[in-house]
Amino acid sequence: MSHDLFEAAKAAMAKAYAPYSKFPVGAALRTEDGRIFTGANIEVASYPEGWCAETTALGHYIMGGGGKIVEIAVLAERMAKCSPCGGCRQRLAEFCRPETKLYLCDASGVAEIVTMGDMLPYGFRGDILK
Ligand code: THU
Repeated sequence: MSHDLFEAAKAAMAKAYAPYSKFPVGAALRTEDGRIFTGANIEVASYPEGWCAETTALGHYIMGGGGKIVEIAVLAERMAKCSPCGGCRQRLAEFCRPETKLYLCDASGVAEIVTMGDMLPYGFRGDILK
């Protein structure tokens, strides 16, 4: 079940634009109804203006109609079990539940399964803002 999400993240990673860090990353999200949205990191010569693979995937997810995210896979070419940065944890958490699974991958597939609750305990919650 999770291997296809790994394959989607791998295909996305191949599209990374990371000429400065040379650290390509791919991410893939699956919604409850089975749709998959992917993204790669995109860097900019003005370094702080680049963004992460997870954020690209979230952009595709929103433009594709959103929905409940049930699984996420992240893969980096040069690091096994690359985990989402702090900012991406907060962005992902906006659209996930604590039990949403996050697959940390290596070159051959899923290496470790954690949950978004594990990744962002005590994260800021915007409920009061709604
Ligand atoms: N990066 C991601 O795309 N996702 C992560 O979870 C960690 C870091 C990217 C940002 C930058 O393009 C490169 O990896 C090096 O930091």
